[in-house]
Amino acid sequence: MSENNEKRTHLKFFGIGRIIRFLKPFRTTMLVMALLGIVTSGIDVLVTQFQRYAIDHFVGGGTTDTLWIFIIVYIFAICLQALATYISCKKAMTVEVSVNRDLRQSAFTHLQTLSFSYFNQNSVGYIHARVLSDTSRIGSLASWSFMDGVWHTSYLILAAAVMLVINFRLALLVLAIVPLVAVLFSFFQGKLIRANREIREINSNITANFNEGIAGAKTVKTLAIEEKMQSRFTAETEHMRRKSVHTSRLRGLFAATMNLASSAALAIVLWKHDLIAADEVGTFSMFMSYAQGMMEPIRWLIDAISDLITTQVNIERFTNLLAVKSDVVDMPEVVEKYGDSFYPKKENWEKLDGDIEFDDVTFQYPDGDEKVLEHFSMKIPQGANIAIVGETGAGKSTLVNLVCRFYEPTEGRVLIDGRDARERSQLWLHSHIGYVLQNPHLFSGTVRDNLLYGNPDATPEEIDRAVQLVSADEVIARLEKGLDTDVGEGGDLLSTGEKQLISFARAILADPRILILDEATASVDTITEQKIQSAIDTVIEGRTSIVIAHRLSTVRGADCILAVRDGKIVEKGTHRELIAKKGYYYDMYTRQYEDEEAAKILDAN
Ligand SMILES: Nc1ncnc2c1ncn2[C@@H]1O[C@H](COP(=O)(O)OP(=O)(O)OP(=O)(O)O)[C@@H](O)[C@H]1O
Ligand SMILES: [Mg+2]
Repeated sequence: MSENNEKRTHLKFFGIGRIIRFLKPFRTTMLVMALLGIVTSGIDVLVTQFQRYAIDHFVGGGTTDTLWIFIIVYIFAICLQALATYISCKKAMTVEVSVNRDLRQSAFTHLQTLSFSYFNQNSVGYIHARVLSDTSRIGSLASWSFMDGVWHTSYLILAAAVMLVINFRLALLVLAIVPLVAVLFSFFQGKLIRANREIREINSNITANFNEGIAGAKTVKTLAIEEKMQSRFTAETEHMRRKSVHTSRLRGLFAATMNLASSAALAIVLWKHDLIAADEVGTFSMFMSYAQGMMEPIRWLIDAISDLITTQVNIERFTNLLAVKSDVVDMPEVVEKYGDSFYPKKENWEKLDGDIEFDDVTFQYPDGDEKVLEHFSMKIPQGANIAIVGETGAGKSTLVNLVCRFYEPTEGRVLIDGRDARERSQLWLHSHIGYVLQNPHLFSGTVRDNLLYGNPDATPEEIDRAVQLVSADEVIARLEKGLDTDVGEGGDLLSTGEKQLISFARAILADPRILILDEATASVDTITEQKIQSAIDTVIEGRTSIVIAHRLSTVRGADCILAVRDGKIVEKGTHRELIAKKGYYYDMYTRQYEDEEAAKILDAN
């Protein structure tokens, strides 16, 4: 998690101010909601007045003279209240879903502009929570909590006003317990919130344990740690049971306190009944109703306030997400000329030839603690076929990350066709690069959908050609519905090798000027690999290509092989030259060759 980012942006934005702009479009709706809320609670207060009138006039006066008018007015008020409630609920619902939609949309749009490094530093789960749960908390705060707040505040104010007008002294006595009750309720509320938070945490632990048990079932079995997993799970569920019991107890206590509080309010009215004239039975009943009726609004109000407080965190985290600046941004003048990701000005795009140059590049990952590259220089002329080899962690993927401008050099420049990559837009560069990753990603949808991401205008013939070119045809034919097979979320219904082949075909379809294969054949069998190898030979013709491979036998044909070690090129040349040199590459090659031969002999036996 990028705490630094959060802290930095935290200073700039308090949070709530940035949410206001999402609420602005709904200010009329919210105003209507507020007015309707006041109407609703006004009628609540009025109904008690009706009771008072009925008792004093009809019961006390012993007459039924104007009863029918009373009934009609009463029914009218109740219907009006029902209507107001219905409309405000509908409005609240609209505000909730619309605010949710707007927040999510802007988060998604913003995420698309962030650079690679953001996604490296922040887990999917973290981003997921920001986009889904924070937004829904904010949405419900702006709708339901807001509505509750208005309803209950206006009820309390109106009821208090009526009481004060009718019997000032008794009203003061009854109202005196409001702060007391409020303090008591917020005490319970605080405890309940904490307890609920703990329960949620335990619950997510249980889910995580459960998922681990299932997803890692094979590993659990092979490590024979079933018992350990079991006892961990049992401990968590027991913890959950204890906490839940504790919470139920709290809830019970809370309910009892509420009853007690309203009884106390009643007791005050009964105790001080001599403040009301003996013939004002209606007033007496009215006071009893208000005294009791105030408890529920106080509780809801405290609910709404604590919602506001807890949602503060969500608001902050969400606005921080929106405030994160991408590490790689196009300069304003570049955007001016080339457009951005959403409005590209393709008419101004130059064609890309494919000359790549590292000019004295020093690079350190934003959260890394040492330099991966130091004063690194290298030229790759257009059309050249370069192979990069080296041990794990040598910096091979880092080099291509820089070519793709997923990161920018800490010092020095990366030149594309002789010009600093920063002088042109990222989208321009990316639209000319085909990149097959070490761990390929497919989007949910069919195989065909995925191929079309490479080139939305590809004809079925072009798709077939690309698929054949990378020898993905046999693999696709084996799938249940061929090109129309659903690949599942992230392509998870396919094997890694299958995903690699499809993402290779997808890259080819885009007809890129620069083709980058990072361990693109790591997960396919040897026969497929040979096929892909010959495909690579055809495909890279006329394009600049950078192939990263662990299996050195696959890069023998490269125009130039760069052997990288600790971010430095230690050797450079064709396969023949490097073998003749008997240096680092030679050692690596012979070691691998021997291993492979040994494996073959073992296989044969
Ligand atoms: N996102 C990152 N943040 C910080 N450090 C990183 C990051 N990615 C890589 N590194 C570090 O940079 C160095 C070079 O990594 P790189 O991924 O370029 O290696 P590689 O040669 O591609 O290795 P492999 O063959 O395993 O793919 C490593 O020491 C690695 O730990
Ligand atoms: Mg790598």
